[in-house]
Amino acid sequence: MSRDELPKTHRALVLTSTTESPQIKTIPTPQPCPGSAIVRVVAANIISYSKDVYNGTRNYTFPLPLVIGTSGIGRVAAVGPDAVLLKPGDLVFIDSFIRGRDDSETAFLFGVHEGHSERSKILMRGEWRDATYAEYAKVPLENCYPLNEALLREKFGYEIEHLQEISGLMVPYGGLADIDLKPGETIIIAPATGSFGRMAVKIALAMGARVIAMGRNRVALHALAESDARIEAVQITEDWQGDLRSLQSFGPIDAYFDISPPEASSSTHFKSCLLSLRNSGRASFMGGLNGDLTIPIKAVVSRDLQLRGKWMYSRQNVKSLMKLIEMGLLKLDGRKVEKFALDDWEKGFDLAAKMSGTDGTAIIVP
Ligand SMILES: NC(=O)c1ccc[n+]([C@@H]2O[C@H](COP(=O)([O-])OP(=O)(O)OC[C@H]3O[C@@H](n4cnc5c(N)ncnc54)[C@H](OP(=O)(O)O)[C@@H]3O)[C@@H](O)[C@H]2O)c1
Repeated sequence: MSRDELPKTHRALVLTSTTESPQIKTIPTPQPCPGSAIVRVVAANIISYSKDVYNGTRNYTFPLPLVIGTSGIGRVAAVGPDAVLLKPGDLVFIDSFIRGRDDSETAFLFGVHEGHSERSKILMRGEWRDATYAEYAKVPLENCYPLNEALLREKFGYEIEHLQEISGLMVPYGGLADIDLKPGETIIIAPATGSFGRMAVKIALAMGARVIAMGRNRVALHALAESDARIEAVQITEDWQGDLRSLQSFGPIDAYFDISPPEASSSTHFKSCLLSLRNSGRASFMGGLNGDLTIPIKAVVSRDLQLRGKWMYSRQNVKSLMKLIEMGLLKLDGRKVEKFALDDWEKGFDLAAKMSGTDGTAIIVP
């Protein structure tokens, strides 16, 4: 589709204030410029806590008005004059982690968060403000990853809603790759029962690891452990010493991946997990904690533990995850996915929150 064939206007979910619900509006369709693609959005992810992001509860900052949304799957409708790979018609993964071209350390989350620096705020306020809960989105060329349709759709039989899972899987993969999780290793995933935690379990297994799933919900943990012989389960209780003994009963633990929400900041599992690591064990912290965390520094020092924080993932991580999927090592089917039109965004947000502890999710299909 050329610039002339793009519709003059399109429908989008626009947030004007965190004290008011977003509204569907008809606005001018974005136009391609150098370095960009205009993508017809086919499916967009819903983060389990989306409502709290856009009603201000989470204190996320972003410019307003804003077409909200996040990563997704789309079909390229038009490209800027400097595109050398992408062409109209290509099915792509839309990566929501947008980085500065002249400073790759500057980044923000498309449609969700303006990032942590003055530079990232500049990046979100200008060219790349409007995201994917819309019929069309303008996306940096490098944030559009072509999907091998012949393989994924025709050979593996994946539907769009299956491919949509890439959006969520990318997040924990960033942390797991960052601590170089290896086949045969044992890793604790905590909490393992939320949206990203469940996906971390799935990827860790695909990377060849054995998983100790930790969480408060005994029933959800039991179901996880039943689903695969390589998953063990340990419940988080108030008794960190008892939890530590339970973790140690599985032998040496190589790694620990944490994706705790803000509500978990005083949980005892941080201590039991860190203390359970073997010498030179690695920990990846990806949770959304706001306050400070107390760490058992004596064990960290005496056992050469490596603690790493990770925000999202690298471009190389996206390519590596695609390979795991294309090799069939990471399967995308098996989840229950409910689709919601733009007009039904609120129902979608509610269901995504409700389904966070289950093997299902909700997506927007604009
Ligand atoms: N670093 C990054 O790049 C990145 C990217 C995306 C998201 N995140 C962070 O990831 C976090 C998790 O997201 P999500 O979508 O997986 O959330 P979610 O679906 O709401 O899951 C939250 C998990 O935390 C557990 N939990 C809640 N309160 C707890 C407490 N007090 N103590 C221990 N466990 C508790 C829940 O289990 P129960 O069943 O026990 O309640 C559930 O397993 C978010 O808060 C976000 O900030 C980070």
